[in-house]
Amino acid sequence: MQSILVIFTALSFFFEYSSSQQLDCHDLCDYLVTYNITQALSKSAAVSASRFCDPNLWYYCPHYGSVADQASSLTDPDNSDNGWNSIGYAPQYVQLDLTEKYRVSCVRLKVHMSSHGPTHHTLWAGDNLNRLRVVKELINETAPNRPWLNVTFNPPLDEVRFLRLTSTVSPSWIGWWKFLVYGN
Ligand SMILES: *[C@@H]1O[C@H](CO)[C@@H](O)[C@H](O)[C@H]1NC(C)=O
Ligand SMILES: *[C@@H]1O[C@H](CO)[C@@H](O)[C@H](O)[C@H]1NC(C)=O
Ligand SMILES: *[C@@H]1O[C@H](CO)[C@@H](O)[C@H](O)[C@H]1NC(C)=O
Repeated sequence: MQSILVIFTALSFFFEYSSSQQLDCHDLCDYLVTYNITQALSKSAAVSASRFCDPNLWYYCPHYGSVADQASSLTDPDNSDNGWNSIGYAPQYVQLDLTEKYRVSCVRLKVHMSSHGPTHHTLWAGDNLNRLRVVKELINETAPNRPWLNVTFNPPLDEVRFLRLTSTVSPSWIGWWKFLVYGN
């Protein structure tokens, strides 16, 4: 009887402790990032896109900074919120090359949108640009009042070097403040 009591007390301590730990995190991705289990892989990615708000081409683009600044603020969680803007309507895409193959646990997208309406974005991933597969469809999930779309892959995606985010339907110009990829 006494030993059952001891086990019960130990178990309740364990659950109290583990649930108080979980309270700090919104989701699995938050947990992995907070406890440094994953790295921000996007930070060192090469960014390409259907087009950029290039200050050399468009007179209203200089306040966004150079194309390199826009790419690094898109992919670096600690950099300013400058982001990427195609200054054009759908279809558009933005793509990250992680330069090596990784195991991707989650993707966090910070929405940059000015009007409400139907949207369709598709996230593709793979080790080879000719063999990308759809890993997430986001239909009507973006809106001006929807700051983040966080996608967690459980199990994680293996062998990912490239991630491409395509936008085929949107009432606004296509842009993202952040396209963050976490994994190992
Ligand atoms: C999504 O990610 C952002 C950026 O890290 C975070 O601030 C936000 O709390 C997350 N949202 C959810 C529901 O986890
Ligand atoms: C997170 O891990 C990386 C690599 O393992 C390390 O360089 C970094 O200092 C760690 N950061 C924190 C806050 O522990
Ligand atoms: C998305 O929204 C549009 C119009 O608001 C609607 O016609 C369409 O059915 C929605 N699609 C989904 C998959 O909910």
